[in-house]
Amino acid sequence: MNAVPIGFGVALPKKCVKNSDLPKDLETSDEWIISRTGICQRYIAENETTASLASEAAHNALKYANISKDEVDLIVVGTVTGDYTFPSSAAVVQKNLGISRGVAFDVNAACSGFIFALDVANSYIKLGKAKCAIVIGAETFSRIVDWSDRSSCVLFGDGAGAMVLQAQEDTDRGIKSCKIYSDGNYADCLFTSGGVSTTQNAGFVKMRGREVFKFAVEKFHELLNDLLHENHMNVNDIDLLVPHQANSRIIQKFIELSGIEEKKVLINIDKYANTSAASIPLAINDVGARFFSGGNVVLLSMGAGFTWGSALIKL
Ligand code: UT7
Repeated sequence: MNAVPIGFGVALPKKCVKNSDLPKDLETSDEWIISRTGICQRYIAENETTASLASEAAHNALKYANISKDEVDLIVVGTVTGDYTFPSSAAVVQKNLGISRGVAFDVNAACSGFIFALDVANSYIKLGKAKCAIVIGAETFSRIVDWSDRSSCVLFGDGAGAMVLQAQEDTDRGIKSCKIYSDGNYADCLFTSGGVSTTQNAGFVKMRGREVFKFAVEKFHELLNDLLHENHMNVNDIDLLVPHQANSRIIQKFIELSGIEEKKVLINIDKYANTSAASIPLAINDVGARFFSGGNVVLLSMGAGFTWGSALIKL
């Protein structure tokens, strides 16, 4: 049984904030942000929430897939910025979509959230425990950044993206491999300064940027080498590579190390900034039909935990 992507959809907050719109007292500049990160703008939630964005993205993905909500038996949301401590954002999405069957839950893997959620859904489908799954990455990081800390607040944006996976037999299409990893020894490189059981609030994003940067480049390179080796492929067999969008310089360094043709690697951080778990599905939406035009698509992520993961999808 293969898990085959049959639809995708996204949702963005209405408000777009360009670098030049950021508060003047942040003492940052369009020039610094673009040259150090590649970011030009980000979307910031006002009335929207993580679950409302996730629900809209899921609705759009179901529409794209031409699938009835009644066929969905699994919803997995990758997020660290849920609407509530409980219920899960996935449960809110289930309610918003009018679904009352199957199971819905969140996974917490920060920027790797989409690939972790994809791995769960792929495993459910392969084991015959689900036939139709919606995998969602959704975040409102603007709610947990410290808007007085220029070294982190300029980096993030809000949004959501969803993918519908369907169980299909007798096909070589679908998810060929999905690998996820973590090493909690790096927890203090990227974390929030609070939480329910410590400070009784969500805290703010704290990051040792240079260490995260270095780790991301190394892990992207290692993930790709392992994926190619395990699937008996070389870098030229890849048609499209969608990495998590944290910094265009991380992606450029990875391109240099891996030797992959630059035109095959998607970079869209200029439009959305780092949307954490939403970045990969937002990027998939940007390539649109190209994603479904056949060939080998590779997804790579790295995030707080540290967590990291890869997926190879044949379309
Ligand atoms: O999704 C996973 C999570 N995040 C990441 O993967 C991010 C990984 N890290 C990075 O992308 C980069 O490390 C940053 C973009 C966060 C920082 O870039 P950097 O080249 O490592 O800069 P830095 O932190 O070493 O700071 C260089 C200078 C400092 O000034 P001094 O000490 O040299 O005078 C900072 O104070 O840049 C200053 N700076 C800023 N200046 C203007 C830091 N943030 C800003 C800012 N505007 N927003």
